[in-house]
Amino acid sequence: KGLFTYDPGFVSTAACESKITYIDGANGILLHRGYPIEQLAEKSDYLEVCYLLLNGELPTAEQKETFVNTVSNHTMVHEQLSQFFKGFRRDAHPMAIMCGVVGALSAFYHDSLDINNPHHREVCAYRLIAKMPTLAAMCYKYSIGQPFMHPQNELSYGENFLRMMFGTPCSEYKVNPVLARAMDRIFILHADHEQNASTSTVRLAGSSGANPFACIAAGIAALWGPAHGGANEAVLTMLDEIGDESNIAEFIEKAKDPNDPFRLMGFGHRVYRNFDPRAKVMKKTCDEVLALLGIENDPQLRIAKRLEQIALEDDYFVQRKLYPNVDFYSGIILKAIGIPTNMFTVIFALSRTIGWISHWNEFHSSPNKIGRPRQLYTGEKQRDYPA
Ligand code: CMC
Repeated sequence: KGLFTYDPGFVSTAACESKITYIDGANGILLHRGYPIEQLAEKSDYLEVCYLLLNGELPTAEQKETFVNTVSNHTMVHEQLSQFFKGFRRDAHPMAIMCGVVGALSAFYHDSLDINNPHHREVCAYRLIAKMPTLAAMCYKYSIGQPFMHPQNELSYGENFLRMMFGTPCSEYKVNPVLARAMDRIFILHADHEQNASTSTVRLAGSSGANPFACIAAGIAALWGPAHGGANEAVLTMLDEIGDESNIAEFIEKAKDPNDPFRLMGFGHRVYRNFDPRAKVMKKTCDEVLALLGIENDPQLRIAKRLEQIALEDDYFVQRKLYPNVDFYSGIILKAIGIPTNMFTVIFALSRTIGWISHWNEFHSSPNKIGRPRQLYTGEKQRDYPA
């Protein structure tokens, strides 16, 4: 096809070199800096994974303490930024608000705009990791008309987030450690996934020299779509629509119909063609959380399990190697924790921020050039404007 390689959807184009994350889709392997995701989910915690993704190595105990303290120093947001929320409708989708307020951080931290300075890039990463839970919880509080909760730095990352979501100034909020751990695991499982649509967007935006907050806002926008991060919200909407186990067969048929755009949300992955290793850990965590809360018989979970079973045995899904992905079970856990459905993708964005900023930093730490894909022009030939 002429001068360029034509690769719609970038199914066979490597756009960069990276040392951060390795995926072997055929064998369901996901490694961060060489460490298997299953081991990180089991033995590590989110802030340690952040350190690993950003720096390439696990921290020593001392390095970890310094990292956690430094991130904690940045958890508050400028009071002026809090005013931004008032400009949004209370029923705005929280992802719409996140696109705005995260981009707006660039108006507050002028030093972060000096992207050629490695120290400034590092501080910017701390700011983003620290402020995302605060901003995410503010979106929720704004939507229900409750006062914003300030972060509490002595709490763990997951505990702090849950307290800012569900605590109020007039009552003590006791965070359940099992739920905080489940939250932390959700953060770890979404932390990075090499050159997916949103990370590629962050890299491409970053390649122009745009500031990091603007680049992350671009990543949040790309993540929002239901084919990407928006799938966790779409799974729950789909389970609601199915409503009853007796309707599953009808939805399976809809998903198989080539003339119907409906897809089984939470199924399939561009790279994983065997299983999604994150989904396995997520499923286990889901069982633990529901057992703890005594809601193993939750009707939506029953529908989800039956749907998975039917799809895994159906020729259509087997032949196309469509398996449950990370988003199939994360929504059920989040719902059980009490997180409203429209916040699910925000939580994905919060978790993925470390991946985005690590890739952005890697881009700027290596020789690079602006990304500029070409096209195959299929429009009109040159013609004259009517006389
Ligand atoms: N339900 C029904 N059929 C499907 C599905 C699905 N979920 N996913 C793919 N297919 C079919 C598709 O119709 C096509 O069939 P045919 O060959 O007959 O035309 C075949 O499988 C290949 O699909 P594709 O669209 O070429 O595959 P892709 O690699 O471009 O898309 C995907 C990957 C994740 C966008 C897609 O599987 C999908 O839309 N899944 C549902 C949304 C979802 O769960 N997204 C979350 C992905 S994981 C988290 C993340 O990365 O954010």
